[in-house]
Amino acid sequence: DSSLAVHSDSRDIVEVLKENKKDFLVIYASQTGTSEDYAKKFAKELAQKFSLNVMCVDVENYDFENLNMLPENVIVSIFISTYGEGDLPDGAFQFEEWLQYLNPGDLANIRYTMFGFGNSTYEFYNGAAKKTEKLLSEAEAKRVGSFGLADDGSGSTDEDYLGWKESIFEDLKDALALHEREVVFESSYDYSELPKEVNNSISLGEPITAYLPGTPLSYNDDGKQLGPFDSTHPYVAPIVNTRELMKSSDRNCIHVEFDLSGSNIKYSTGDHIAVWPSNPDEKVAKFISVFGLDSETVFDLKPKDNTMKIPFPVPTTIGAAVRHYLQISGPISRQIFSSISQYVSETALKDKLNALSKDKVAFAEQITSKYFDLADVLLYLSNGVKWDFVPWVYLVETVPHMQPRYYSISSSSSTEKQTVHITAVVENFPNPTAPALGPVTGVTTNLLRHIHLTKTNEDIAKSTLPVHYDLNGPRGLFSPYKLPVHVRRSTFRLPSNPATPIIMIGPGTGVAPFRGFIRERIKLVSSQENVSLGKHLLFYGCRNDDDFLYHDEWPDYAKKLDGVFEMVVAYSRIPGKPKVYVQHSMMERKAELYELIEKGAFIYVCGDAKGMAQDVHKTFLDILSQGKDITTEEASEILKTFKTSGKYLEDVW
Ligand code: 2AM
Repeated sequence: DSSLAVHSDSRDIVEVLKENKKDFLVIYASQTGTSEDYAKKFAKELAQKFSLNVMCVDVENYDFENLNMLPENVIVSIFISTYGEGDLPDGAFQFEEWLQYLNPGDLANIRYTMFGFGNSTYEFYNGAAKKTEKLLSEAEAKRVGSFGLADDGSGSTDEDYLGWKESIFEDLKDALALHEREVVFESSYDYSELPKEVNNSISLGEPITAYLPGTPLSYNDDGKQLGPFDSTHPYVAPIVNTRELMKSSDRNCIHVEFDLSGSNIKYSTGDHIAVWPSNPDEKVAKFISVFGLDSETVFDLKPKDNTMKIPFPVPTTIGAAVRHYLQISGPISRQIFSSISQYVSETALKDKLNALSKDKVAFAEQITSKYFDLADVLLYLSNGVKWDFVPWVYLVETVPHMQPRYYSISSSSSTEKQTVHITAVVENFPNPTAPALGPVTGVTTNLLRHIHLTKTNEDIAKSTLPVHYDLNGPRGLFSPYKLPVHVRRSTFRLPSNPATPIIMIGPGTGVAPFRGFIRERIKLVSSQENVSLGKHLLFYGCRNDDDFLYHDEWPDYAKKLDGVFEMVVAYSRIPGKPKVYVQHSMMERKAELYELIEKGAFIYVCGDAKGMAQDVHKTFLDILSQGKDITTEEASEILKTFKTSGKYLEDVW
């Protein structure tokens, strides 16, 4: 299986560690790649700073039954992301099962460090790491240093990690009597360059797979991609329709339809689809230029030992790697400043980098708040002098790798079996503190808008041709009207009994899954006789009619679901009128909402996690405590049981 991190005959974690003569173990359980990225960074730094021989692997690929037999001087550093309702990532299924059956004393020989990635806007904050911590300590494993938690809800993941790491390095130094040395980058891969002519045969022949994210795609003879498709093996899906949903020209929201008919991928209404973006031409060109790279260079990477995984399919060109695999825009970690300074010979610049890398506050003020891309920030610091002395392999291993972006599917699997709709608001706003840098733009949503603006009917027709078709198209890869995607299951599901009333709250693009829900219900009543639906009450919020998403569709839905579907719209920016949010509209309907809850209504909240979802939660607390004449604490217990029993569902970000 090419998706396995390690090509070893064994899955036994201790055996592989010993076989590879490793003296430190880092394991991670990752859902979207965050904890994987941090675990690898941690492993790399540990190895370089303390001359350790670190093994860094995904728990998915190992068995842990013999963990307690780990050599005495080996510490295990654990990185775990929380997903869903306090759950461990999907890939950690066996790991979790193993943990659950441990007895006291089973891990008495183990010393470990613990770091969790979570989001405090969710009910079960860092639930997976907390659960793991509890089970490890019950099995009598001994934790070294503090239990670290990163909170994406307050946007502080990177700083939470760095703070924890700085203290844990001190703890590890004590525990293992380590000596620190100056960090000198050493690649984990043997790097080689291939003759450029290879590129021609790459783009024509088999290894074109080298250009695609995830593990290489495979094709059968007629050029069809071979599945099964999943998060490590996305399907390159044709885009068959796009539409602008906003009426005013200053903001954009793109409706996109992906055709999955060639893939066998199934989805359910309420699921998410991951879209793998690529960087736009201008940003690729800037990155290439700042680092003095040659985008045509064909290179190969071979792991130095079999516990290392290749970061993306190779051989490929530097240009393709920068475009498809490196996250060259977006927030920068201050850590990169301290490591890149090893290549800087000019003392003033070196000192500036080192000072910023140690000063959280200055870094936030001078760098983060300006939404710099890495290339921009480095040019700014060096006063326009190029950074062509930084080795390309260093960038490959240091710049974060491109991650897919997840969208709530806005179609219904019963009406659109083979097609997935998404509703993506385009992130594009003037840089608030450094306007000269141009607008701040989201990678995926601007790519989708670009596709929307440039495609023609002829292009759409082409997009259903095999992937090989448009290799040399404007975006340099496969047809520009195809993007790699995979589906992620969610728990956001309609009640199985259609008579159960539902309350949906989804301002902005939070309305996406509810469009799917309503389409699903319409299909149900039109295909079966005598279905009686419970009340379907949707609270939607927008600024005014210009950003009212799917404005033309809702009246038709209401007609088809005569009487049971009702949409309440809260307008927040109508000149001369007070600002109304969904929670205000809810309070106006509190008696009815209380009655629906008493009748067993399911509650669905989708959209902004920080403000909206919390305000809506508070509103439900008020409605319940007033309706039942109980305290807010008691109401909060009720909502908690709703959440654990799947009657109060959130799809928030
Ligand atoms: P605003 O932009 O005028 O503040 C979709 O984004 C809608 O949600 C907009 O009308 C937006 O209003 C509104 N919104 C912003 N913050 C919100 C919050 N905390 N709760 C509910 N709605 C909110």
